[in-house]
Amino acid sequence: MNIGKLRLAAITVCVIVSGCQMERNTISIIPQPVSMRPGQDMFVLMRKTTILSADKNTRNEASQLADSLNAATGLHLRTTDLNSDYQIRLFLVDSMTFLGNEGYQLNAASNAVEIRAFKPAGAFYGCQTLLQLLSKTSEGKWQIPCVEIEDYPRFRWRGMHLDVCRHFMPAGFVKKYIDLLAMHKMNTFHWHLTDDQGWRIEIKKYPKLTEIGAWRDGTQIGHNSAAKKKYDNVHYGGFYTQEQIREIVAYAKARHINIVPEIEMPGHCQAAVAAYPELGCTGKSVGVMQGWGVSENIYNVREETFQFIEDVLTEVMGLFDSPFIHVGGDEVPKTQWKQDAYAQAKMKELGLKNEEELQSWFIHRIDTFLTKHNRRLIGWDEILEGGLAPGAAVMSWRGEVGGIEAAKAGHDVVMTPGNYTYFDHYQADPKTEPMAIGGFTTLEKVYHYEPVPAALDADKAKHILGAQGQIWTEYIAAPQQVEYMAYPRAVALAEVLWTPKDKKDYADFIQRLQIHSKRLDRLNVNYCPLDKAGFLTPKIRRRKDGFVSISCFVPSAQIYYTLDGSEPTAKSKQYAGSFPLPDGGTIQAVAVSDDKAGPVVKANFGPCKKDWKILAADSTQPGEDAANAIDDNPETWWQTEYLEKSPAHPHTLDIDLGKTYKLKGATYTPRPSGGNGTIKECEFYASPDGKTWMLAGKGLFEDIKRNLVEHPAVFEKPIEARYLRFVSIREINGNPWASVGEIGIIIEK
Ligand code: ACM
Repeated sequence: MNIGKLRLAAITVCVIVSGCQMERNTISIIPQPVSMRPGQDMFVLMRKTTILSADKNTRNEASQLADSLNAATGLHLRTTDLNSDYQIRLFLVDSMTFLGNEGYQLNAASNAVEIRAFKPAGAFYGCQTLLQLLSKTSEGKWQIPCVEIEDYPRFRWRGMHLDVCRHFMPAGFVKKYIDLLAMHKMNTFHWHLTDDQGWRIEIKKYPKLTEIGAWRDGTQIGHNSAAKKKYDNVHYGGFYTQEQIREIVAYAKARHINIVPEIEMPGHCQAAVAAYPELGCTGKSVGVMQGWGVSENIYNVREETFQFIEDVLTEVMGLFDSPFIHVGGDEVPKTQWKQDAYAQAKMKELGLKNEEELQSWFIHRIDTFLTKHNRRLIGWDEILEGGLAPGAAVMSWRGEVGGIEAAKAGHDVVMTPGNYTYFDHYQADPKTEPMAIGGFTTLEKVYHYEPVPAALDADKAKHILGAQGQIWTEYIAAPQQVEYMAYPRAVALAEVLWTPKDKKDYADFIQRLQIHSKRLDRLNVNYCPLDKAGFLTPKIRRRKDGFVSISCFVPSAQIYYTLDGSEPTAKSKQYAGSFPLPDGGTIQAVAVSDDKAGPVVKANFGPCKKDWKILAADSTQPGEDAANAIDDNPETWWQTEYLEKSPAHPHTLDIDLGKTYKLKGATYTPRPSGGNGTIKECEFYASPDGKTWMLAGKGLFEDIKRNLVEHPAVFEKPIEARYLRFVSIREINGNPWASVGEIGIIIEK
């Protein structure tokens, strides 16, 4: 890949000129700045325009700005340390501590554009904003509107992750990925370098890690949930040399991006065990894993293995100057430790009660090692199990629970909850999307993500460093598909992480994103088309008064709907304002704009009910849509979300319907959710008083699809009750501690 061509460019939005009056191009910056005061005039770029970098500490930023402006406009602006008129000027100002290390002020006047910052990172972000201010007149002039901006980020950790193990991504693409992060003012790239399916980083002391561990003799075809697994038998792999890694680290650093390397332990390490079987618990030779899922082959706890890990980490620390080193720690099956006499003897010697404590001891040891070398350990939230090492930080991926627990205990946290930040999930209708791992995480959902859990007081909330998006690549074989899954969701996340909470506005973001998409086009980013990503997705809502409204984010779109169960088309009834539907029914709607139709959206409404509430939930917490669902959609009105740290069952949920109804049955609608489970068997109990319960019916979903289809559990006979209890008995697929779905109630009218 030709890196030169991948440099960031700026936008080319034409400003319409009518007569001699210029219509102002609306300023459209993503992420939205903290404050902005538009002026009247324009700064026009000319051949003689120069970029002043008075301080040698902004030379890097000035020269990158010159390159980006050149790529966008063709103009060659010189950088200089001499002050003159018609300049773009970068200044570092010692007194501007109030902006923080990443903040800036940008003042564009007709004779100069000045960017002031306390540190070079701030100047760099000011330049990114400048590039987004650029537009071209119909006469071919490049200009910047006069404006005063003051801006700084909300969070310190604004990240994106990339798994290069399940599928290898070329070094050139990694640089493009970094460019895109920088453009969106992200500052962290989490590079997932080792896993069961491939070891991707050259380690000089252990050459077999890449000679053997970087290659597999086949790759799974199809989804991991398929009953029969298939493989392509094609030799596959790749790795980064240390030279390439040094170059990428320097490339990222110039763009103010810290690369956090991830070296997985004590699980997700089958590729290392394939290279050096003595690192495993069984001594048997294994190949690099070809299929998806979690390998049972984990590291043993012998001294030689710790020596190996410390040697590897020593080389890793030599390559990466990141304050944090990620050691994984997730999804560690303990079967082999249970059967390994050495591990059992070690537990006894150390007085450890179980294998979770052995894992905790393992991570503590590595934490001590990293701390001794002035680095901090970060790992997935399983590292909390059995006690967290004192200085360690946590990535909360199994929902928010781990993050809340860690922050309450005074540990730093990066929020990475699956339901909001796993961009390997579907972002649009799975029926029309390339195969993904599961899940359903729309652009809008990402935009509305709030990284600071409500459960944290301010003094604990300060431990939330930020959040990041995850790209796991089991079902993402090539760079283009990485871009498709990451964008535009990463753009929404960038705004979540940069922009003050009270400045966020989804409708406004959508307007800006339409302009921003042209910038992504210029950079050849294969983002998910905006009509699929949610612009043409109708939103069907029912208010408490029983009126239904349908909307979508393209103001000029026409919306068509049906009430008779048929698929809506442009011949169906056109939506012309809210209408009453107090007794409920099924609405299907489609939005059409410029002859393009978005997805058909279906909503079921029962009779209006306002007084249903959750009573008690044992280990079951309300899903994030619960509040909306109660108002809008009483028939499928509750979303449950299990977030258990142990696979203990059953989980229960009690619902008070407010008065007695005749209940005919219930429904379960799984939300396909990443590695999460799906309920296979559940029971519904009914009660007149919330005290005495009787079994009303069972749901047996042996053939359940991990999709959004509603599965009914019809009761043998209708039953009068005010209270309903839902008990999940058995789950399948993925991790047993988490499953997401909606529970509906069918009422006899
Ligand atoms: C993870 O998704 N296993 C961290």
